[in-house]
Amino acid sequence: MNVPKQIVTQAVSLARKSRDNAYAPYSEYQVGACVVAYNPTDDDFELYTGCNVENGNFTNTIHAEQLAITKAVEDGNKELIGLAVATADGDDSEPCGLCQQHLIEFAPVDTPIYIQTSGEEYIEKPLSECTPFNLNQ
Ligand code: THU
Ligand code: ZN
Repeated sequence: MNVPKQIVTQAVSLARKSRDNAYAPYSEYQVGACVVAYNPTDDDFELYTGCNVENGNFTNTIHAEQLAITKAVEDGNKELIGLAVATADGDDSEPCGLCQQHLIEFAPVDTPIYIQTSGEEYIEKPLSECTPFNLNQ
């Protein structure tokens, strides 16, 4: 299922917005994410956002992508078809291995990842080309 351009734009914008709600007092690295789900019953797209929520012990930190994916699943959407991620402006960080692992549970390997770079701009690459997911191939 292709993600319409208008939905991609919306997802990138929502990921940026969600980033502002990040709780990251320890790393001071704020991350926002927005996952695109396809709902076959209604034949429509649904968007779920997340931000990182850190914990003093660091291990308990919830990643932005993890939260967005978890919200989609909780809402009954297990068919995920795209993921937008926003970190610091000018940064083009991919979702980490843990988040990739979360996504692959509900999305195919060629799922597009939209990585916000600056403003509303983003680069796009499939999940399979993100590091370290591709180290095993
Ligand atoms: N972080 C995410 O939210 N997603 C990722 O995939 C990479 C890392 C967060 C966790 C931590 O709060 C901060 O970024 C620095 O690692
Ligand atoms: Zn992660």
